[in-house]
This record gives sequence, structure tokens and C-alpha cells, in this order.
Amino acid sequence: MKEFHIDVTVHFFAFNELSEADVRLIEQAKAMTYTSYSPYSHFSVGAALLLSDGQVFKGSNQENAVFPVGLCAERVAFFAASANAPDVAPVALAIAARNADGFVSQPVTPCGSCRQALLEAEMRFGQSVRVLLYGTEGVYIVPSMRALLPLTFDGSELL
Ligand code: THU
Repeated sequence: MKEFHIDVTVHFFAFNELSEADVRLIEQAKAMTYTSYSPYSHFSVGAALLLSDGQVFKGSNQENAVFPVGLCAERVAFFAASANAPDVAPVALAIAARNADGFVSQPVTPCGSCRQALLEAEMRFGQSVRVLLYGTEGVYIVPSMRALLPLTFDGSELL
């Protein structure tokens, strides 16, 4: 038996330690929580996706009475970017969330489906997407989607 280890480095920043550009992206994700349509979960998520040319596409979670029809904030933002700027690489994604108590204290991380969707863009463009996860107690910064989804299914065996 052999084993191997997969390391993921997560940087934990106090808000006042962040660069201006990162603060700007996080503020956009926070603002997007107010456009969330979430009458079922009462959990409002906002996402802001920065592209390599400086454009930012934004999203919020959109729910439906038929629960599986709804979509996470991250994929709303990413699919909008991919549809409107198909040839421009995404480079950073900020995520923020609020519940009945306000913005969450511990950062919310993207679900597996959103990780899978964004990882494919990361592979397609050969460019990492930094992930900025906002909480009132601080911000996690993860260097790439791949770091959030090790041992991924990347479609390379599809014929
Ligand atoms: N949600 C997101 O939009 N992004 C996440 O990263 C986690 C979960 C949404 C889906 C659903 O509308 C609500 O939050 C509760 O799961």
C-alpha cells in the first residue's frame, strides 16, 4: 500500500489586510446578496467573478418552488460570464452570504457542483481562479478551484 497527500494552502486574512482590488471584489459579492431570490432557504448568497480583462460578472442564488431548479450564486455569475465573454479567462471569484443574523461570521465555501463548473474553466484557460470567501471574522483565500476539488473528474478520459 502506498499513500500520497494532497496539500491545500488557505490564507486567512483580516479584512484590513486585503488588497484594494480584493476588497472591491468582495464588496461586490456582498452587495449581490441583496439581489438573491431565496424565499425557501432564507440564505442569501452573492458572487462576483473577475475576468482577466477586468470585467466583473455578478450573481446571486436564485431559488424555485421546484427546489432543484434553483441555482447557486457562483454558477449564476460564472454562466453569465461564460455566455457574455466566452473567450476571457476568469481569474478571481468572491463569495459572500447572509442569513437571518446578517453576514455569516465564517466564510461560506462553494458547493461541489460550482467547484466542478469553475474548475473546467480553470482547465480550459490554463489559468487559476483565486477564491475569496468572505466572513465577518475574516476572509479565506484559496489559490485555485483545483485546490478546492482535488481528485477531480476532468473529462480527460471521455472519448
Ligand atoms: N448557495 C449558493 O448560492 N452558494 C453556495 O456556495 C452555497 C449555497 C445557495 C443555494 C441555495 O439557494 C441556498 O444557498 C441554500 O443552500
